[in-house]
Amino acid sequence: MKYITFENGDKLPMLGLGTWKSAPGEVYQAVLWALEAGYRHIDCAAVYKNEKEVGDALTKAFKDGLVKREDVFVTSKLWNNAHERDQVQVGFNQTLADLQLEYLDLYLIHWPVALRSHVMFPEKGADFLDHAAAPLSETWAGMEALKKEGKVRHIGVSNFNQSKLEEILSSCEIKPEMNQIELHPYLPQQKLVSFCRSHQINVTAYSPLGSADRPSARKKANDPVLMQEQVFQEIADKHGKTVAQILIAWSLHRDVAVIPKSVNKDRIIQNLESADIRLDGSDMEAMSNLKTKHRYIDGTFFTEVPGSPYAQSDLWEKA
Ligand code: A2P
Repeated sequence: MKYITFENGDKLPMLGLGTWKSAPGEVYQAVLWALEAGYRHIDCAAVYKNEKEVGDALTKAFKDGLVKREDVFVTSKLWNNAHERDQVQVGFNQTLADLQLEYLDLYLIHWPVALRSHVMFPEKGADFLDHAAAPLSETWAGMEALKKEGKVRHIGVSNFNQSKLEEILSSCEIKPEMNQIELHPYLPQQKLVSFCRSHQINVTAYSPLGSADRPSARKKANDPVLMQEQVFQEIADKHGKTVAQILIAWSLHRDVAVIPKSVNKDRIIQNLESADIRLDGSDMEAMSNLKTKHRYIDGTFFTEVPGSPYAQSDLWEKA
């Protein structure tokens, strides 16, 4: 297993279990299977609506002696409706209670988009907070306070492009240590990954398998299906592995942490075994230079809301 080593020496196993779309009723068992298989990195978020059940699984694993708390790296994310300075603590406390933990290893601002505190997903312009009411610098100050209090070991962001990262970097006391973004061969985002690296910001790949189980509202008619790309099948055959394993190995080869989601025991085990695959230069080149480019999670659920103050150009730079 490869690790990311933070400045203070803490280590993050680069391959973790994703829990977005893992339904309550499934995620409990998935987390236990993952820990039994050897995963030591679980990625969560308040908006996934399953943290309580992830917490039940962690509690069981600690109680049974399957793993110790200090041996598992747990990440969660602050939802968009808790960006106001005094709401950061509120959002965090709920996550910590649901996960039944005393601290988090990593806490991320989920999106650079601010909503009113009673809104989960916006339907109209009035559901958003304007920038002055919840500037990113204030939200970040709330994250810094959590770190100073020792409630989180590391803080970072998710879905931040270069200009949003620059906004934080220009005013922060503690620099973000992670940017979790959509990354796979249809969306390599090399420029943003390089920018992060140049500022000692680590990178985690979400939707590494193309999130085929994303909700129908996140699907468009002509979306390409990542796992069906012929080139990946050829490389998988060459290594005697599956396409999913090759896709996970592609992120690991870039020194990017990766969090494939599965609630299936065999696939959970199979995905962890990707850590042993060594892709060669020609594999990486073939996978990184595909004609098809596609962003599955494009944030239109924020930008296309009537009256939204956010445009696509606020979220993503041109690739
Ligand atoms: P399942 O949970 O039934 O295993 P992503 O991580 O990009 O969001 O992708 C998650 C999707 O990929 C889910 O539909 C998940 O289904 C599926 N998946 C996870 N691991 C594998 C695998 N090894 N082979 C095929 N599909 C997989």
